[in-house]
Amino acid sequence: MPGERVIVIGGGVIGCSIAYHLAGAGATVTLVERGKVGSGASDVAAGMVAALSENLALGEPLNLALHSRAMLLDILPSLQAESGIDVEYRSPGILHVAVTDDEERELRSRLEWQEPLGMGVRWLTAQEAYRTEPALGEGVRGALSSPNEGHLNSRRLVRAYAQAAAKRGADILQDTEVMGLTLQGSRVTGVKLAAGEMEADWVVMASGAWATRCGEWLGLQLPVQPVRGQIVSARILPSPISSIVWRGITYLVPKADGAIVIGTTREWVGFKESATLRGVSGILAGAIELVPAVADAELGHVWAGLRPGSPDDAPMLGPIDGWDGLLLAVGHYRSGILLSAATGKLITDCITRGDGTAMLPFALSRFSS
Ligand code: FAD
Ligand code: GLY
Repeated sequence: MPGERVIVIGGGVIGCSIAYHLAGAGATVTLVERGKVGSGASDVAAGMVAALSENLALGEPLNLALHSRAMLLDILPSLQAESGIDVEYRSPGILHVAVTDDEERELRSRLEWQEPLGMGVRWLTAQEAYRTEPALGEGVRGALSSPNEGHLNSRRLVRAYAQAAAKRGADILQDTEVMGLTLQGSRVTGVKLAAGEMEADWVVMASGAWATRCGEWLGLQLPVQPVRGQIVSARILPSPISSIVWRGITYLVPKADGAIVIGTTREWVGFKESATLRGVSGILAGAIELVPAVADAELGHVWAGLRPGSPDDAPMLGPIDGWDGLLLAVGHYRSGILLSAATGKLITDCITRGDGTAMLPFALSRFSS
């Protein structure tokens, strides 16, 4: 119902989108972030809005991704106007490059299910691939072109959601850690802060990779695992690439400000958030093999972040069986930027309209059977 008091734990892209959507639907929202908004994985993300390329499973996860992409593009004009922040969305498409037999086979199998979706995905011969991106390295056998995918500046997106949420009346508390939940029987009634307790009708857990720690407050082991991703930015003018170029675990994203963002790693190393020489050297080697001209680029920044991994790579959305007044919005793994719009709307519909049906395929309980 409108007017519900909601506390959102976590100021990443997911928590900020939820705050934005909830405040727009008339809820009284307090978002609590232990650092600054965006201080988790969201500020590190490459910012791709790439529903077809993140390898989400066919069926409900892919549908959610496609739906969220459409929603995000739809709300961007008003989000940017309300927040005064340009999120720098661009849609140059993605070129998935095949060098080996296995890579070609895998990309051609994607083509089979992606072509009927009518999003312009098609196979390029080697000659066509080099014509599209002349700076590609040697040995390209062909490429899958996904021309409608895009990217934005994730730091700006997080701040746009937070700023617009604040304009809609949400209270954004930074440098404030949630240390526990307050309970009355099986009902979650609020959160514990260093300064005391704060009451709410609903608490939404949007604490990213740290969700397991929050689950412990209820004696639960939530199946969210930190998956470290390292990423590098570089600068070279003119940019040797015009679209996103991706091969295996290596991607290069030409950003609106002229930087090229290069990823990545996927590492199961617990809560270690630092970049490593091994990680960065692997990223750079992959990038230089794919687009040799980037070897001469100026090195910009190096980051690492913890993706909130989930056992099936899809998010966990909605209630936890046995507990009232609590909703989960975690486990967005590689696609939190992309899935932020739909997640914000689904959680809002559940709280303000009592309609949680669209979240059912993403219930935590899918892992208990
Ligand atoms: P986070 O952004 O991690 O936010 C969680 C927040 O909760 C943190 O700010 C943390 O401080 C706060 N918190 C935790 N515990 C507490 C507590 N007790 N009290 C208060 N606050 C708390 N996704 C895409 O869609 N496209 C991409 O191109 C893309 N590229 C990526 C590249 C890399 C290298 C990485 C690492 C990730 C990438 N992702 C991408 C994935 C995306 O970054 C994540 O899915 C998304 O950021 C998760 O958002 P979140 O809000 O759940 O988590
Ligand atoms: N979605 C890109 C990444 O997680 O690295």
